[in-house]
Amino acid sequence: MERSATSIDPEEFVAATYYLETGLDLKKAAEALCAEQSTGTWVRVGFESDELIARYSARVLEVKEIEKGSSNKGILKIAFPHANFGPVIPMLLSTVAGNLFEMDDFKNIKLLDLEFPKAFTEEFKGPKFGIEGTRRAVKVKDRPLIGCIVKPCVGLGPKEFAEACYQAAVGGVDFIKDDELIANPGYSPIEERVPRVMEALERAKGEKGEETLYAVNVTDEVGKILERADSALENGANCLMLNFITAGYSALRHLCEDPSVNVPVHCHRDMFAAFTRSEVHGISTVVVSKLARLCGGDQVHAGSVCGKLYEDLPSVLRSVEVLKEGWGHLRPSLPVSSGGQHPGKVPENIRHLGKDALILAGGGIFGHKDGATAGAKAMRQALDAALKGTPLEEHAKGRKELQAALQQWGVFNPQVS
Ligand code: 6PG
Repeated sequence: MERSATSIDPEEFVAATYYLETGLDLKKAAEALCAEQSTGTWVRVGFESDELIARYSARVLEVKEIEKGSSNKGILKIAFPHANFGPVIPMLLSTVAGNLFEMDDFKNIKLLDLEFPKAFTEEFKGPKFGIEGTRRAVKVKDRPLIGCIVKPCVGLGPKEFAEACYQAAVGGVDFIKDDELIANPGYSPIEERVPRVMEALERAKGEKGEETLYAVNVTDEVGKILERADSALENGANCLMLNFITAGYSALRHLCEDPSVNVPVHCHRDMFAAFTRSEVHGISTVVVSKLARLCGGDQVHAGSVCGKLYEDLPSVLRSVEVLKEGWGHLRPSLPVSSGGQHPGKVPENIRHLGKDALILAGGGIFGHKDGATAGAKAMRQALDAALKGTPLEEHAKGRKELQAALQQWGVFNPQVS
């Protein structure tokens, strides 16, 4: 039976868009995908009634040919009945992004986008804080937020780590985070690190008169994540963090939806590039961002603008967009740009990301020749310049921290990059 989409109710389906390269005719390939990922297999079987297929089968919505040849290239849009998997991310992924990557007849296949009906998304709570909640927490209404990743990211004991946080906070960062490489190691357990950092941030607040969030990385084996979160919260944490690709979307949702988690959750996506980086195979960053927001991520890494990490600017911008755009009851998540940032790159980040963004620097703050406080001040000065539209070199006159940073790292120039 052909699995076509004659008059389906869109509320009952999740629509997935794929790029496909295959030796098969594209229409046949789309049918094969529908069969494999829903009611069929490589051969017709006895229990596969027409009624069962009509009810539970995936359907082909659209097949667009890009190129014809020994490998046909095209875009497929497939509708999957969500009754097959329910509001369960692991089962959604098994359906729209499971065995289909292994199909021998498909040379390359990339999941480009997912569209969800209201009937599906209303089962998810989404971010508890999102952009507005994060802004409220640091009392910053309408400018981009500046943050740092403590460096060196591995090996500092709680005392030195807290001192690093103090220096950056007093220089003006709104946000401090653990690197993705530190969570609860023996040399800096959460219950020793967090109280010291929170005390350091209180001290910094007394001096600078501004709040600072500290995102504590609670990534662990899934059964331990809430334990880590409890320990961080008991010790005064005002933000949590999860490496959500390595821990899993389900772990992220579990953490974000837990009633005891009453602070924002920062989502780091390390390992995502293993399946997003190829243009023709894997899963797009747009899908990564949508799912993180659905699962409740308040701040979500969305790409490194002009940084040290790989970047496909149109995808970065689209991932940023899907974090912020209107999506029913789901609050917008705050997009995060990180990796190889320094004051000379702040204007370029803001040009692309706008005001609702968190720009993070590790080396670009802790590597400042005059120390982390100067590094943080330089980032804030660069931000002021960008918001005023003043060239960095001009704004740096009389501002020694920014001047030193520009001498150290220069000003990013999109024309020559
Ligand atoms: C993070 C960072 C991290 C990145 C560098 C950033 O948020 O933890 O994105 O994944 O790779 O550690 O540090 P630099 O600013 O020094 O590049």
